[in-house]
Amino acid sequence: MNTAVAGFSKLTKEEKINWIAKEYFFNPEEGISTIKQYWNSDTKLQQLHDDFVENTISNFYLPMGIAPNFLINGKYYSVPMVIEESSVVAAAAKSAKYWSTRGGFKATVLNTEKIGQVHFMFFGEALKLEHFFNKIKPMLIASTESITANMQKRGGGITSLELRNKTSELDNYFQLHATFETKDSMGANFINSCLEQLAKTVKEEAYNYPDFNEVEKNITIVMSILSNYVPNCVVRAEVSCKVDELAENLPTSRQGRIENPSEFAEKLVQAVRIAEIEPFRAVTHNKGIMNGVDAVVLATGNDFRAVEAGVHAYASRNGTYASLSHANIDNGIFTFWMEIPLALGTVGGLTSLHPLVKIALEILEKPSAQELMQIVAVTGLAQNFAALRSLTTTGIQEGHMKMHINNILNQYQTTVDERKMIKNHFENNTISHSAVVTFIENLRK
Ligand code: MEV
Repeated sequence: MNTAVAGFSKLTKEEKINWIAKEYFFNPEEGISTIKQYWNSDTKLQQLHDDFVENTISNFYLPMGIAPNFLINGKYYSVPMVIEESSVVAAAAKSAKYWSTRGGFKATVLNTEKIGQVHFMFFGEALKLEHFFNKIKPMLIASTESITANMQKRGGGITSLELRNKTSELDNYFQLHATFETKDSMGANFINSCLEQLAKTVKEEAYNYPDFNEVEKNITIVMSILSNYVPNCVVRAEVSCKVDELAENLPTSRQGRIENPSEFAEKLVQAVRIAEIEPFRAVTHNKGIMNGVDAVVLATGNDFRAVEAGVHAYASRNGTYASLSHANIDNGIFTFWMEIPLALGTVGGLTSLHPLVKIALEILEKPSAQELMQIVAVTGLAQNFAALRSLTTTGIQEGHMKMHINNILNQYQTTVDERKMIKNHFENNTISHSAVVTFIENLRK
């Protein structure tokens, strides 16, 4: 029977681990040893990781892979990806190489607006609040000046501030709706600091506003927070080529090679159309896009939860959850594209703290936030193309199991000789979990 613990955060790291081991591990010594096996021997580096969150007991590794040959707007990138799913990096690399010989990817940042809101309750006449807001707006902006000064020097800051009446949806509910330009930073801390100052000023000014009665003076600030929905911080990624150029019949690409390009193009367009109208498919379709997006977002130290939340909200913006990507064939030209909202940063946050994030940004040649938006969107589109290509030709399992086989071999702790025999056998036989396990068991008989 486990017990509750008081003051866990005040225990030392050793004490925390001992408590966990005592409470939860069947074999405490082995559990403790596994936790410590993942500590870094460089104590300074370990301390850095310990300090990222509270109650750190160890480090949780994920593979960092590279998908080379991404030609984006005429420039080659090697894209760092952090992800556990076996086939994702291979798929991105394959897609990147394929499109590098067909003109590469084009990417454009359409806009870069971030949003934040002060949510508050006002118990009075909406018109009076409007007059009040118009009067104090310059004061509100001025009150944030010490926070915005540095950002303004970099060309950013608060770009608009408006009062929104939401009382038709919720009694007494109003917002200060602010938009921001945060340049190369994701801007979460900047935006939240500005909003908290705006909230403080609005409350103080209301209290001293002579036209408000006693009830009206008492504005209730409910919360001040950025929005992770950024429908005006959107990047477009695109590939296109003549339908005939989609052909790929090189002997090296046996798997899913494209021998009939017009049939392939039609099927791909149909697959996208299905995801445009069928939410069950759209979710999986977009999940494939996010395989690429999240992996680069993670590698570059950005907030993948924020990106996920914002992207899926965007996918539902017309009232039904739908595909983020689109495809068509027009005049013999196949075009495949996607527009997604991405609030990313290449300065601030983890970008200057996590050594591997710094390396990832170096591999990308220190991109601006806008350049990173383009790289991330392109990786998502490449991933989507790879998935649709497999799905509409060989099926997804062939490529997936080819990569996943390594996980099975590790799980069964196969020897080098066993691995050779297994890989030889499955060169020409269908890979499935049970087929591999049976083969290993037969080998070991
Ligand atoms: C698997 O991680 C992603 C896919 O399911 C995406 C898709 O179905 O388009 C292959």
